[in-house]
Amino acid sequence: MSSAAAERYARVAILLHWLIAALVVANLTIGLLHEDMARDARQFWMAQHFAIGLSVLSLSVIRLGWRIGHGFPPLSLEHAAWERILARFTHLTFYLLMIGVPLLGWLIVSTGGGNPVSIFGLFEIPALPIGENDSVHDFAEEAHELLAKAWIGIIALHVVGALKHQLIDRDETLARMIPLLRTQRK
Ligand code: HEM
Repeated sequence: MSSAAAERYARVAILLHWLIAALVVANLTIGLLHEDMARDARQFWMAQHFAIGLSVLSLSVIRLGWRIGHGFPPLSLEHAAWERILARFTHLTFYLLMIGVPLLGWLIVSTGGGNPVSIFGLFEIPALPIGENDSVHDFAEEAHELLAKAWIGIIALHVVGALKHQLIDRDETLARMIPLLRTQRK
């Protein structure tokens, strides 16, 4: 077994990473485009936004539980200390956003009309038991928007970091999260 394979994330962690990443990118896209949509399209896509967002929340709680229970492959000591600190900061921020942003979204809906959220027409998740509340609603809307937009910057940082390891350092960082990826060691 290569050292990349030995130090790779477990299959469940890899699957959850890419599934959550795809759902977050989809939800950022819908969120950023929704204001320019016609009424019917906006209604349809925002229903998907709510369902995707609550899926992100559930999968993130599972992912966090998995990480706490199973640990994760240690960051290589070959990386500079500043890179390891930046990676830790980015990962921690991701977990906060993966849980905080959907919770704030759920709070917007719950304090707005209080309607349950349909999960792709399969079943419903009830509103948070808070009731209609304008000030909490406005706060949640502002915070949801601000954190979601900040998330785009953190994702960019994360992607640039991964590409630096793959293309410049040519180390095994990205291969830990992409099975079958080969690295060309210098
Ligand atoms: C991964 C999870 C999520 C991401 C990345 C995300 C991202 C976004 C973004 C970028 C916007 C546009 C902000 C703006 O420009 O005004 C938005 C709006 C919105 N999101 Fe989310 N969202 C997520 C989860 C949720 C969830 C779970 C719900 C509700 C159950 C929700 C409800 C809403 C609502 C109601 C708006 C419209 C707010 C307004 O019109 O000002 N979101 N979201």
